[in-house]
Parts: sequence; structure tokens; C-alpha cells
Amino acid sequence: MPNSVTEAEQFEKIRTKVFHGSETAVQELASIISDLIRQRQSDDRRVVLGLATGSTPVKLYQELIRLHREGGLSFQNVVTFNLDEYYGLSPDHPESYRHFMEVQLFRHVDLPPEQAHVPDGLVERDKVFEYCADYESQIEEAGGIDIQIVGIGRTGHIGFNEPGSGPDSRTRMVALDRLTRRDAARDFRGEANVPAYAITMGIGTILQGRQILLLGWGESKALILRAAIEGPETDAVPASFLQRHPDCGCYIDQAAALSLGLLASAKNLSSDSGTRIIPRTPLLLFWWRPARPMV
Ligand code: PGA
Repeated sequence: MPNSVTEAEQFEKIRTKVFHGSETAVQELASIISDLIRQRQSDDRRVVLGLATGSTPVKLYQELIRLHREGGLSFQNVVTFNLDEYYGLSPDHPESYRHFMEVQLFRHVDLPPEQAHVPDGLVERDKVFEYCADYESQIEEAGGIDIQIVGIGRTGHIGFNEPGSGPDSRTRMVALDRLTRRDAARDFRGEANVPAYAITMGIGTILQGRQILLLGWGESKALILRAAIEGPETDAVPASFLQRHPDCGCYIDQAAALSLGLLASAKNLSSDSGTRIIPRTPLLLFWWRPARPMV
């Protein structure tokens, strides 16, 4: 019986590192970020970070706060741009992403407030286009994003680039996908309270970052991560456009890796069973392989 994993499925198209748990992953992610911050400090230069919200980056922010408190990491030379914001929410609304960032990171570190940018959810409707163009200009004027953190939604969105978003899309107002609103319903105490629109950096904006770190934890992300990492590039899965970035790394835990063919191929599928076997052994941990060269 032929092996059910095709040749194309055996290779991830985004370099992927699978960790035992998110705790170990965030230590590595935080050291990538803190190394760059310190290196730039010694050159008297700024670092521009692209930041994400949601549950995914929370532990990473906690680790950065720990490095600030216990390791003397300063954020004085850091400039940040967040991916997105709900349209219609004020900065102090408890579910706004500005509020999230204040609570999860900004107020705990010495990042100068004027260097932290989150899209404004209260821009007047007829000023949105101009506002979004200005957000892009501010990123450019800051020197472009050095490291962009992204999570992935179950729709495959990065930022709020829902299915249908093209690879050249720029910062703009978007309508949120039904699944995204459903996933946010608990935080807003009901789907009807979840804003219908958001302002988000575009996929083209994200792809301009020099380095992209895609994070994903837990089994609920396993199928969409498989589509993003191993599937074709398609606007049905906006995160799949990260495949075309020369320096995008995906950091996931074992549960989020459950559906990946690469794990099965790593342990050599039994050629007669045709079944994907994903052994939970230490061999899976910290397993890293360069992405398959694009043809
Ligand atoms: P989550 O959301 O981190 O809360 O799972 C990720 C996203 O929607 O980008």
C-alpha cells in the first residue's frame, strides 16, 4: 500500500520548530528579541518590533517582562507597532488591543509611551484610509519592522487579515470573519458585542518585516497551522503567505504540531500502514530543519 503522505507534504514550507511546551518556546523567542535589543543598544540604534495580541503572545510578554526585571533588559531603544485593533473601541476599553498591550507588556517595562503604536480604533470613518496610510509611513520612518511577532487565528488570519486577504494587502479596515467573532465572543460576553470591523496591518505590510516569528500553541491551532505551513499559498489561509518570506520561523508546541506531516516524516512513516504516526518522544523536541527550497 502506498505511503499516504505525498512528497510535498513531507516538507514544511515555513521553517518550523516544535517545543515540548510554550514555556520553553517563549524563552527562545524572548532571547532572539532581547539579543537584538541589546545588540542595537550597543550600536546606539533602535529596534522596531511588530507586536501581536491574543492569548498566544502573553507568555512571551511575561518572559520579556522577567528579562526586564531580573536581567536588566531595557526597552528605551525599542519602537513597537501592533498589528491591529478593533474598530470602534476606545484605547481604555477592556477588550481593546491598546488596553491589552498596556496590561500585558507596556506598563511593566521602560518602553517610552510615545514609541508604542497601536492602531486607533476610534478614527472617524472618513479618515480611516488616510490614517492607515499614515500608520504605514510611521513604520517606514521608524526604519521598518525588525522582528514581527504573529499568532494565527483559526480562520488562518494573521493580524486581522481574514480569508480573502491578498499578499499585497496593506494597513486597512477589514470586516471580521464569523469564526473570529465567535472565538472572541467569550471575552466580549456574547458574539453580538464583538466589533464587526477592525484596522489591521496588511499581509504585504507584515511581509516587509525583516524577520517574522509565527507562534502557535494548543491543539485548536493544529489544523490551520498545517494548512499554513505545509499547504499551498492561498488567500483562503492568509498565514500561508508567510511561506514566501525569506526569514519566517514558526514556533509551536507539540499539541499545535499534531497534524503536521513533517513530524510523521521525521519518524519515517511505516510504508505499509499509510498512517501518520506522531510519536510523543523527546526526539520531537527541538527538531529543526531548514525549509524546503522553493522551486
Ligand atoms: P489567540 O488569537 O492568540 O487568542 O489564539 C490568535 C489570533 O487570532 O491571531
